[in-house]
Amino acid sequence: MKGIILAGGAGTRLYPLTIAVSKQLLPVYDKPMIYYPLSVLMLAGIRQILIITTPEDQNSFQKLLGDGSALGCRFEYAIQAQPNGLAEAFIIGEDFIGKDKVALVLGDNIFYGNGLSKLLQSKTDVKGGAIFAYPVRDPERFGVVTFNEQHQATSIEEKPTHPKSNYAVPGLYFYDNDVVAIAKEIEPSSRGEKEITAVNQVYLERNALAVGVMSRGMSWFDTGTVASLDDATEFIRVLQNNQSTMISCLEEIAYKMKWISYDELKASAQRYGKGSYAAYINSL
Ligand code: DAU
Repeated sequence: MKGIILAGGAGTRLYPLTIAVSKQLLPVYDKPMIYYPLSVLMLAGIRQILIITTPEDQNSFQKLLGDGSALGCRFEYAIQAQPNGLAEAFIIGEDFIGKDKVALVLGDNIFYGNGLSKLLQSKTDVKGGAIFAYPVRDPERFGVVTFNEQHQATSIEEKPTHPKSNYAVPGLYFYDNDVVAIAKEIEPSSRGEKEITAVNQVYLERNALAVGVMSRGMSWFDTGTVASLDDATEFIRVLQNNQSTMISCLEEIAYKMKWISYDELKASAQRYGKGSYAAYINSL
């Protein structure tokens, strides 16, 4: 399975923070935001990853993440010229995806919790599509899903005024190769975007949209507003300071996945200067 991180968009809800800097490069406590969704794909076992950015920001992402070889991965980069919708990622990524299955994660989504790796790895051989459901207080801000006892989706709507459930759909999606053709076929919504929810509706009509429930013990943050960005920062700070582990240390994950050697892990700390991230790698 291949992976795509969609890290474009205008980030206008965070202005002035994002006038000169990409949202997905802003700090979430002690690391750039994109480290978190990247860690999710890595924990799923995905090593070939396409990073889609705006034209202006591509160089910065390349400077930060390189070709992925330091993490035993392969990163490629592509541009989304305009924020034409999440589903455009599969059209931009068509050659990269080839004949494989693909996972998409939004560059501003953060996941953490007990059993996350297992849950992710259970979806990498998906037939049809697999999405997640996360209970929230304000479902009208998100895609909203209902599902049956077999954990098959029974309805999915984008930002409904009257949500049918309190289960939001986080920005993490697993699909078989049909997703490329589906993304091409769907029409832009009233807000002019190729919606990921429209893609999911096609899979739902085929009775092929599985729902993994993220319940207690799992945390999800969409960092699209100043308040939610601040919440995520606080969450990471408190957890990391309480425990002796770091959340989304990419080198640690690469080492635990056996994608880099002990010597490569040790050497990787040098890049991070004298800060706490380097100290953490050294402590491993
Ligand atoms: O965060 C989860 C939600 O993400 C889902 O529940 C919704 O179903 C899904 O539509 C999406 O909703 P948002 O309205 O919050 O998406 P937003 O436009 O904020 O974009 C999400 C991220 O993707 C953001 O970091 C910017 C980036 N993006 C967005 C668009 C529309 C792109 O890179 N390109 C785009 O064309």
